[in-house]
Amino acid sequence: MAGYEKMGQSEVESVQADFRSDTVTRATPEMREAMAEAAVGDDVFGDDPTVLRLQDLVAELTGKEAALFFASGTQSNLAAVLSHCQRGDEFLIGSEYHVFVDEAGGTAVLGGVVPFPLEVDANGSLTAEAVQEAVKPNDLHYPLTRLLSLENTVSGAVQPQSLIDQLGRVAKEAGLRVHLDGARLFNAAISTNQLIAAFLDNVDTVSICLSKGLGAPVGSVLAGDAETIARALRLRKILGGGMRQVGHLAAAGIYALGHNVERLAEDHANAERLAKGLGSVDQLEVRQATNMVFVTAPADDRQSLYEHVVSRGLLIGAPYPAMRIVCHLDVDSQAVDLLIEADQT
Ligand SMILES: Cc1ncc(COP(=O)(O)O)c(C=O)c1O
Repeated sequence: MAGYEKMGQSEVESVQADFRSDTVTRATPEMREAMAEAAVGDDVFGDDPTVLRLQDLVAELTGKEAALFFASGTQSNLAAVLSHCQRGDEFLIGSEYHVFVDEAGGTAVLGGVVPFPLEVDANGSLTAEAVQEAVKPNDLHYPLTRLLSLENTVSGAVQPQSLIDQLGRVAKEAGLRVHLDGARLFNAAISTNQLIAAFLDNVDTVSICLSKGLGAPVGSVLAGDAETIARALRLRKILGGGMRQVGHLAAAGIYALGHNVERLAEDHANAERLAKGLGSVDQLEVRQATNMVFVTAPADDRQSLYEHVVSRGLLIGAPYPAMRIVCHLDVDSQAVDLLIEADQT
């Protein structure tokens, strides 16, 4: 299982480009100006005008009744699962999805809600059959299956609208609700030339991250029907996520939605070029999806190749077993060239 590296300060200072994740972007001067100038109020009292504006904007973009600003994607996903499920319920989820693997088991720890993982294919997709089979009969030996939790993109891989629709319909027929972790749903939308709402007809709640490819420093928004979002508001307070003059952060999100959506295509193009360049290096196995590239080197060379690249000030994900390389707002085509060159020498 992969771990997360902590960078020492000296290493950070020598960095030329940081490809570890699209979460590393820094707010641009224009975004900082929008944050500084934001009109604010007390959001726990519900009267921060900039937060209300962001929530309205995301409700509109997702085609949902209501939306709610959260400090992080983890908090938004957790509030979503807990707003759909009670203690002792279970939810079905892809075995590689972030909510199952990377959110510290929060649904079970804080909500008594048990994940039931389903195998995913190489594209990160679930099948309708697996979902149908996993729904438990109403028998006292089993937890009650309440929710299907999806993700898009999955490690960069787009889950097509037709699949999300099919899985959503199957879940509904079985009486389940459907949540979508859409941390990078805009990447899926841009790469398929669709609006994000197109993916959401059969989804009850969706969590969108502003702090990944969109380049805001903080924040996620959960959208859904008004009743579920009202439950999520109470849960957000329980989770310690009620923030006050948070319009300064919401302003970064509004700026990101206005300026950084279409440009995701540049990240996808950079990732494609990177994959092509690295693909020409002998013995490297390269896979690319939207803004992510995964590179697998022969087992004996993995660590030395990783150290060689990092020693050149190019940060990438550690080789467990693939090195993850992510393109984003703060890496340009020059940085892509440096990385290709580093792998070739
Ligand atoms: C697919 C996915 N969902 C959710 C999250 C959680 O977001 P956050 O880091 O804001 O808690 C991440 C973070 O990387 C993610 O990649």
